[in-house]
Amino acid sequence: MKNITKIQLGQNGPFVSKLGLGCMRMSSIWGGPTPDKSESIATIHEALDSGINFLNTGDFYGAGHNEMLIGKAIKDRRDEAFISVKFGAIFYNGQPIGMDFRPVAIKNFINYSLMRLGIETIDLYQPCRMDGSVPVEDIIGTIADMIKEGKVRYLGVSEITPDQLRKANSVYPVSALEIGYSLADRQIESDLLPTAKELGVGVVAFANTAEGLLSGTMKAPLAADDYQNHFPRFQGDNLTKNLEKVEVLKQMAEEKGYSPTQLAIAWVNQQGDHIMPLVSMSRRSRLPENIAAMDITFTPEEMNTLNTTFASGAILGGTYLQR
Ligand SMILES: NC(=O)c1ccc[n+]([C@@H]2O[C@H](COP(=O)([O-])OP(=O)(O)OC[C@H]3O[C@@H](n4cnc5c(N)ncnc54)[C@H](OP(=O)(O)O)[C@@H]3O)[C@@H](O)[C@H]2O)c1
Repeated sequence: MKNITKIQLGQNGPFVSKLGLGCMRMSSIWGGPTPDKSESIATIHEALDSGINFLNTGDFYGAGHNEMLIGKAIKDRRDEAFISVKFGAIFYNGQPIGMDFRPVAIKNFINYSLMRLGIETIDLYQPCRMDGSVPVEDIIGTIADMIKEGKVRYLGVSEITPDQLRKANSVYPVSALEIGYSLADRQIESDLLPTAKELGVGVVAFANTAEGLLSGTMKAPLAADDYQNHFPRFQGDNLTKNLEKVEVLKQMAEEKGYSPTQLAIAWVNQQGDHIMPLVSMSRRSRLPENIAAMDITFTPEEMNTLNTTFASGAILGGTYLQR
């Protein structure tokens, strides 16, 4: 077993592996095909064997499919896994149709999540967004009540503003902020990251590869059926110019003997002791590469090259992350 570094989420929060396993892509999210279930379960098992205990899901990932998959995988290994669940997004026929953060809905959602996961307590429970339809205090207050009831252990939040984070933390201590963060998406550095640091909130950073842009395998134009075509970042001139930036990452990866994805994960990992990369891995073959990325360091010159090439705003066009 590899001894993966542990980090504490929040000031009095849990210790979890500094690399998280994102399980979202183990289910059909936008109505596409469902990946091989047995390989997904084998990946979760191998992640646990490797010391990765942080498993991330949402009750809307595959309309409950993702939670049932994780429930099956951890059936005899509950004590080894730390389960993080998001709620609030409503999908119908593979398409998002709205959000629901009413306290009565949250109390309903969690019962179904616990049943699908086959567990009695969710380790980290978090609204997937805060859309203003329900006051922050009411959403967080509802989760705080569920912590008292024993259905939840720790409070998390996802994709929220600095003001919302402060408000949430004033109602109940926030252990973790789940947020999209990569070399290509750095806008949170100006205010949200400093707020999280000031409040002592752990950062669970997803989309480290920026929808595959930083994997170094993308070519312009994308195939007509690639889902990334929906985002301006991957369209026309934007994609051509963005891939020129990625060439710098590719060259550095080659010189250092790693893959561009490994450097993209390593860069996120190096941004702070309280920041953990949360990476989608639906096959076992991804694990050794991504675990090895956690040991990569950069010289000051290399860091400077990356930070200059991928300065905030350098990547053109957004994805769903533009806030
Ligand atoms: N809070 C939110 O709003 C939110 C939004 C999106 C996602 N999330 C969570 O964050 C997790 C990660 O986010 P993400 O999936 O958007 O981004 P990601 O981790 O950057 O994954 C994108 C793609 O990278 C691939 N990949 C992983 N390791 C690789 C490697 N070594 N080389 C090449 N490709 C590699 C994955 O492929 P395979 O799947 O084929 O292994 C995946 O399709 C999700 O699983 C989910 O749990 C949260």
